Amino acid sequence: MRAFERRLNDIMQSWEEELQAFRRRTKKSAQAWEAAKKRIPFGVNSNYRLVDPYPLYVRKAKGSRIWDADGNEYIDFCMAFGALVAGHSHPVVAKAMRERVTNGTIFGFESVDAGPLAEHICRRFRLDRLKFSMTGLDATLFAVRLARAVTGRRRILKFEGCYHGSHDALMVSIKPKKEVAGDRRRPNPVPSSKGLLPELVQSAVVAPFNDLEAVETLATEHADDIAGIILEPVPMNMGYVHPKPGFLEGLRRIATEIGALLIFDEVKTCGKWYGGAEEAFGVTPDVKVLGKSIAGGFPLAAVGGTKSIMDQIVPGQIGHAGTFNANPLSISAGLVTMTKILTRAGMRHAQQIGDDLAKGYRDIIRDHGLSMVVQSGGISGTVHFARGAVTDWRSFQDVDVGRWWGYYTAMLNRGIVPMATGPDEQWTSSVAHTKADVARHLDAFEDVAESMKRGRAEMSLVEAV
Ligand SMILES: Cc1ncc(COP(=O)(O)O)c(C=O)c1O
Repeated sequence: MRAFERRLNDIMQSWEEELQAFRRRTKKSAQAWEAAKKRIPFGVNSNYRLVDPYPLYVRKAKGSRIWDADGNEYIDFCMAFGALVAGHSHPVVAKAMRERVTNGTIFGFESVDAGPLAEHICRRFRLDRLKFSMTGLDATLFAVRLARAVTGRRRILKFEGCYHGSHDALMVSIKPKKEVAGDRRRPNPVPSSKGLLPELVQSAVVAPFNDLEAVETLATEHADDIAGIILEPVPMNMGYVHPKPGFLEGLRRIATEIGALLIFDEVKTCGKWYGGAEEAFGVTPDVKVLGKSIAGGFPLAAVGGTKSIMDQIVPGQIGHAGTFNANPLSISAGLVTMTKILTRAGMRHAQQIGDDLAKGYRDIIRDHGLSMVVQSGGISGTVHFARGAVTDWRSFQDVDVGRWWGYYTAMLNRGIVPMATGPDEQWTSSVAHTKADVARHLDAFEDVAESMKRGRAEMSLVEAV
């Protein structure tokens, strides 16, 4: 099961009915899952896609809509885990891609559009230089190497509950269980997968998000050996978490004091505000990692920073390579996405949609007296199934994962993909969503709200990426 362990017997009748309805509506997804499992372990190619009882298998998508294997239509607020702020198959991207495919998809040489796209992204995200690659994974992997190479140090300070892609250096304490997580203010580095070198895991310094004092203590203890402090400036892999006022500024100060690079992993946040987290919070890191939304649904990522850091990426000294890096398809998609679709006006529209959705959720939660908390900003937000605010991984552990699962299934049954898969995710609104889409989403939630009080399934998130 996708990161869940559950006891079905505990589910109230209405939720069992939702599950049966889901199975009736999605028979072809069930078949596709059975077929895929014969060759693909668990039938998914990213572990995050697995959900109980089985994932939806999808045939097509357009704008804010997605159609599953059975032909059921959904209004999609997952938007490929935030990669589709431009919406599915935006006509401008589709046209650019048709032209691109006709004229060569990969050259083994640089394409002429990489420079103009780098120019736009550098201006927009206040960078001097950047290097393109394909995924958030390879970009944060490179950012870690860069930090180590530039500082000559070993350790990376990361935050419990933050996710930076499925690679060894940062697969530490992403979703550690309580029994092994240790002291809240001095968390144990817990491997997020088998197969990691213990010495690599132990080299990570794991800190609690939003606790500046604890970070300062840990950073000071390892001051001479910390190459970089990496974080999601707004964590979005323990649901949507607000950085407390002063927290990002404090990290900026600590990084400068100990001579480590401050790395903002903006793979998600770069698509949530026009200029990313720096525009929203006014804190300048040394290095930014961008990804997901920047190429309108094509794989593109980037690591950028000041010229004094980036100019050290001298061939033969700091390795950076990839056959598909800055491939013409991704670059052309990126250029039209950033300059023609995710404009200030486009982002304002998406933000309004997000704000309306957050307000609607808050109203319904208040009217029905539900124990849920909406945390949102930019174009995204999470409805946390918790009594209090979620501020770090430890408070996220109070989220009622079973109730989330009931909500998610019930919303799917009403034609809404309410958010990305998992209570640790969030919704993404896009330039393609309309006020009517928000109204349909909220109508569906109003419909399931009462059962939110009753239904309950015992589940817990487990550390598995
Ligand atoms: C903050 C953050 N960094 C990095 C990644 C990894 O990106 P990718 O899935 O493109 O490898 C993700 C993916 O969700 C992410 O949320």
